[in-house]
Amino acid sequence: MKKLKTKNLVILFIIFLCIFFMIHITTKTNKDPNKNDVVSMSKEPYKNISYYNKEYQQRYEKYKTENPDLSLKNIVTRVNIGLDHSFYTHTKKTPFLNKDYILVNKYLYLDKQYVPANLESISTQYSRSGMKLVHSAREAFENMAKAALDDHIQIIAMSSYRGYDYQVNLYNRYVASDGVEAADTYSARPGFSEHQTGLCVDIYDGVIDYTDFEKSKSFHWMEKNAHKYGFILRYPKGKEHITGYQYESWHYRYVGEEIASYIYKSHITFDEYYVRNFENQH
Ligand code: DAL
Ligand code: ZN
Repeated sequence: MKKLKTKNLVILFIIFLCIFFMIHITTKTNKDPNKNDVVSMSKEPYKNISYYNKEYQQRYEKYKTENPDLSLKNIVTRVNIGLDHSFYTHTKKTPFLNKDYILVNKYLYLDKQYVPANLESISTQYSRSGMKLVHSAREAFENMAKAALDDHIQIIAMSSYRGYDYQVNLYNRYVASDGVEAADTYSARPGFSEHQTGLCVDIYDGVIDYTDFEKSKSFHWMEKNAHKYGFILRYPKGKEHITGYQYESWHYRYVGEEIASYIYKSHITFDEYYVRNFENQH
């Protein structure tokens, strides 16, 4: 009888010990800072950025590891643009068709069939013949060119809206003469050209070649005044890694006065502005 009681007590003691250890281990695991907290700590700083996208969390972390000196805002901005992927990979159809803030770049493209609504001819006083822009851009461009002329400065449109097929020929010609790699630094592939939006224009001063536009008085006038009419220099110097194109002193994009003034003051590209302000709204 006594032997049985002792045996029961031993079994009870062992059960008690097991329960005690199980509770202890569970509590310790939950408090372990190397588990749950690490996950929330790495997410937390990004989450305070208004254009943070939780689906890209792992991409942000990987890009930060590869670019430790970039601020978190720039990490989120660049991953949102798609810059953690090579140009012309992970491409998507661009939303916001026919809006002045539509973005077309090496990740966002337009369909072959897309022709913007409201294309209008630019007055030949300020352009080569046959040049078109969408209504808002055409009106702003003529106002800008007129204001320049009042200051004795010539602003002439030499290329503006270009249809998909036109870009096919242009790009193929460049590839034939310079090869794909070089052509990609200065010419957009068909569907990926901002010129298909009817919102941008290549200009010159009516005298010197457009590739030397930077040397003209007209360029300096544009530097000071373009944003007041809603135009931005779309492919600035030093931003090639973001825009994907070499510097183009002659290529101006209409985005409206408010956005143009913001971009002018902050020295960011339209790609950056776009993902910070519009991307999550569609
Ligand atoms: N030159 C610009 C990038 C274009 O081809 O659209
Ligand atoms: Zn251009």
